[in-house]
Amino acid sequence: MIFTCQPGFTDLLAGELSTHGFSPVEQGAGWVRTEGGPKTELPDLCFPQMALFDPVEIAADSVNALAAKITEQFLASAKTERFEGEWPFLFEEAAEMDGLGRRVKGVEKMVQENLKKRMSRVARLAVADKPRGVAQLRGLYVFFVDFKRAYVSREAFFGGQRRMADDEQAPSRSYLKIEEAYIVLGREPGFEETVADLGAAPGGWSYSASKRGAKIVAVDNGPLKGGAYNNYKIEHRMEDAFTFRPAPDQVFDWMFCDLVEEPHHVMENLIQPWLERGWCRRFVIILKFGRVDPLALLRDVRSPDSVFSRCATNIRVRHLYHDREEFTIVGELK
Ligand SMILES: C[S@@+](CC[C@H](N)C(=O)[O-])C[C@H]1O[C@@H](n2cnc3c(N)ncnc32)[C@H](O)[C@@H]1O
Repeated sequence: MIFTCQPGFTDLLAGELSTHGFSPVEQGAGWVRTEGGPKTELPDLCFPQMALFDPVEIAADSVNALAAKITEQFLASAKTERFEGEWPFLFEEAAEMDGLGRRVKGVEKMVQENLKKRMSRVARLAVADKPRGVAQLRGLYVFFVDFKRAYVSREAFFGGQRRMADDEQAPSRSYLKIEEAYIVLGREPGFEETVADLGAAPGGWSYSASKRGAKIVAVDNGPLKGGAYNNYKIEHRMEDAFTFRPAPDQVFDWMFCDLVEEPHHVMENLIQPWLERGWCRRFVIILKFGRVDPLALLRDVRSPDSVFSRCATNIRVRHLYHDREEFTIVGELK
């Protein structure tokens, strides 16, 4: 398989894959190629943004020759296939190679033209974008590892990560992470739903929920800014997130937690009481791994006796497109 990730996190991706039985055989900036591993369903993985199944290697010197080989590979594999609706047509490349993006665009355009000539109806249904959300779909996926070599695959899994659009009123770039987290979970706060935002300042997450009409309690000693400041949907409480408690019998629809604190301290002293006592229905939590071993932390989060495994369902742990030295956990209470 080929797995892609945020460039700069390739070693962590390879490490995570190894712990799940995949053997990394080649890697570059933002990608790892593996052999072996689970044959049936993929486990829930944190670092991969895209996973390509059964990639076939294509090598050629020119844009023309690469496009011709990719077209032939696709046509041969699609001979007996029916294309009833839109299907993904995605060309991507390894990061940090000057000029590779331009070349890949050239090959992509030429493959599109080839397909229009050979299967015009099927070509018209091709969509050159990732699906929104977590999905596994058949399509045409081409990943260039350098100028002369690419891998072609017909089936891909998407972890749900994607680049989000900014909002000029958002007080922090954290805003992008919560917007992306909704896509990974497949849900977002609804009108009048309640949110406890723990470690809220300057208010990117609170602002994002307020845009959807939710009612937010933003807990942080720091000030709210931008679109979160003086927002009638947001009640700012200058309190400690570790001692903040819902009112008796109150259950928040959502708990957000984005604290720059040691992750085990956050798990034991904040997440554990919230999930064990059922103070919320859904959650989005960021754990910072800058000062701990990220793979060991992932193991702790996923262990069968962790608070997440015991109390939650639909758990997804992701290194988001907008995450840095941290990962995001979304889920719902059992
Ligand atoms: C990364 S920022 C949160 C950014 C926020 N999610 C946003 O969208 O703007 C972390 C915040 O956690 C707050 N914080 C850290 N420890 C806290 C605690 N014990 N109680 C409340 N807030 C805390 C800090 O004051 C800081 O504002």
